[in-house]
Amino acid sequence: MRELGIVTDAAVLCVDGKFAAVGKRKDVRRQAPLDCEERDLAGCVALPGLVDSHTHPVFAEPRLLDFEKRIAGASYQEIAAAGGGIRSSVKGVRNASTEELVERVSGFALDAWTEGTTTIEMKSGYGLDLESELKSLRAIQQVVRKLRLTIVPTLLGAHVVPTEYAGERDAYVDLITREMIPAVAHEHLAEFVDVFCEEGAFTPEETETILKAAVAHGLGTRLHVCQFTPVELARFAPYDLASVDHMECATEESIRCLADTNTVATLLPGATYFLGRHDYPPARKLMDLGVAVAIATDYNPGTSPTASMPLMMSMACTQMKMTPAEAITAATMNGAHALRLAHRKGSITVGKDADLAPFLDCRDYREIPYWFGRHHSKFAVCSGTQIPTA
Ligand code: NIG
Ligand code: FE
Repeated sequence: MRELGIVTDAAVLCVDGKFAAVGKRKDVRRQAPLDCEERDLAGCVALPGLVDSHTHPVFAEPRLLDFEKRIAGASYQEIAAAGGGIRSSVKGVRNASTEELVERVSGFALDAWTEGTTTIEMKSGYGLDLESELKSLRAIQQVVRKLRLTIVPTLLGAHVVPTEYAGERDAYVDLITREMIPAVAHEHLAEFVDVFCEEGAFTPEETETILKAAVAHGLGTRLHVCQFTPVELARFAPYDLASVDHMECATEESIRCLADTNTVATLLPGATYFLGRHDYPPARKLMDLGVAVAIATDYNPGTSPTASMPLMMSMACTQMKMTPAEAITAATMNGAHALRLAHRKGSITVGKDADLAPFLDCRDYREIPYWFGRHHSKFAVCSGTQIPTA
């Protein structure tokens, strides 16, 4: 993760949205056709387009009451138990039109672009009934058609059990496995199924039931897990999880069983920061034991309302003691692996999608996490096209 393969005096040639040549400017120029359109980014650091592999952008309103309650001392779990938290975002999504949700999600995508993000995983998870989960995923699909960046949709019907199923959890799990997952697979509305496996959300047993249904319908799998309480991850080995996300309190045994698998540990420092906690995920331990680590924003109204991957990189360095190079790998190549898109995304490599994040005011890659909270990128290049156009 520390080997970035930096090229100075570099250029890339983009043809049909793919990198056709990359390397020293003079070598790339030799391969460029005479009529190629040139864009000069001299003096800046250009990273592969950033990959935000974990977001929850389909919601209607910010959760300002939760924010104030936490400042006054209540915990995330206490707020959720008292009717706030995820459940308090559900009404807004159920009442919203698809167009309103499209508007919201597009706004987030635009923010992400100007921070250098070109690939975004987007979850449903605030509808929590068949119709509203499908509406959320359809809103994501409309954004896919409208915008040029790459979006990977995920069904998170298993975010929490909605209030109307409070006394009958099994019936809600049945709704997910027998109706939501088949409908989503049939309409190709999502590539992954996610479950919030946590006290107050879904038990490890319920989680397995849902993962089984996802695999049976040909969908990929990922988990929110070990955020507040540890769960042994060995039991999930049969489901070929693309990622396990959060991991603040994962045990060493769980960490060891992830090494040498295709499962990426996706760390979300924005959530730790915004909840005012101090238990940042154990990035060094994960990396030292051989686990692939990605970082993502976890953009959502409850625990991490930010679209900024550079800010996450900064937190990864200062709070999780990742080196700037490791943070960059975690935000690019390893994010691409977490979405099973590494053949197309995550590095500036001939044949991959021509996605770039130019950091216009940085001369050294370490400046990206160093100047925290500053807007460096201003635009991104998606499949060879500058967005938003200058
Ligand atoms: O990743 N932990 C579960 N889901 C989100 C929070 C969602 C919310 O509070 O609205 C997370 O932190
Ligand atoms: Fe999340």
